[in-house]
Amino acid sequence: MKTDLNVNFAGIKLKNPVLTASGTFGYGYELADLISLNELGAIVTKTITLESCDGNLQPRIAEVESGILNTIGLQNIGVRAFIEGPLEKLSKIGVPVIVSVAGSSPSEYIETAEILSMKNGISAIELNLSCPNLKKRIICHDLRLVSEIVRGVKNVSKLPIIAKFSPLVTDIVEIVVVAQDSGVDGVTLANTYPAMAIDIETFKPKLSTFKGGVSGACIRPMSVRCVYDAYQSIKVPIIGCGGIMTGEDAIEFILAGATAVSVGSSSLVSPKNLIKIICEIKDILERKNIKSVKDIIGIVNKSLG
Ligand SMILES: Cc1cc2nc3c(=O)[nH]c(=O)nc-3n(C[C@H](O)[C@H](O)[C@H](O)COP(=O)(O)O)c2cc1C
Repeated sequence: MKTDLNVNFAGIKLKNPVLTASGTFGYGYELADLISLNELGAIVTKTITLESCDGNLQPRIAEVESGILNTIGLQNIGVRAFIEGPLEKLSKIGVPVIVSVAGSSPSEYIETAEILSMKNGISAIELNLSCPNLKKRIICHDLRLVSEIVRGVKNVSKLPIIAKFSPLVTDIVEIVVVAQDSGVDGVTLANTYPAMAIDIETFKPKLSTFKGGVSGACIRPMSVRCVYDAYQSIKVPIIGCGGIMTGEDAIEFILAGATAVSVGSSSLVSPKNLIKIICEIKDILERKNIKSVKDIIGIVNKSLG
């Protein structure tokens, strides 16, 4: 039996549930020579801010066991340059484009989202709520800020709004419920985990900022748990993210409750892995005689309660 991989995420039709993860696939068009981009479910861009940002000093990446530690620091060209350059190219690919947005204050998020929403070629906005605000606190650690940003962006944009959270919160359920009550159309769970690695030859931290975020296979069980917990408490769809290296890993997130998945570190290893993951999902579901990927979303919750 052929398995149908189509899913509908917050009104966006995806030909399969596999998305790029923000920040691990550039602006989204640069890798066209390596893979056929229109085979992807959707492209999520690196995070865009109101003004351009140089990011953090090198070293910004360190390999750790089964993962990657990064402190890129939201390096990007700013929303206006993004619209003039990358967005033009992205909108010609024929795949839904989800633009990731961040700011250091609610007004920066809202203004950036408003500028983007006036343009064609964008299917949704993903609010990266995992970055620090002006007081250096992670935005999603403050429920009032989450609500203010989501409500503010919904006021200025007709696009579906997806909120992406840090997994390092006291209660992921409390936060996704606040986001849903504030009007969000979907959530992404989750971003990297705060982490650190030290070089024992130099006695120095491996990253310029000492601490960063860890991604890759080592985080997957923790992120699967975030999706499982959230699925029981919210109605809006979930993008599962964290350590997806194979089709099996993607299916694990879907069984926990994800409607779609985003793949980061694995595509840094090789962008071709994105296509491999799509094929593996199809092969596994066909082997199990599953008619549609939609049939397995969240079924672990249904069977185990
Ligand atoms: C080098 C690098 C850069 C990233 N940049 C962003 C970013 O700009 N915005 C964002 O929301 N997440 C960013 N992330 C987090 C990823 O989108 C993803 O949430 C995380 O890496 C977990 O998925 P993975 O284990 O598949 O990599 C970045 C991750 C890496 C490794």
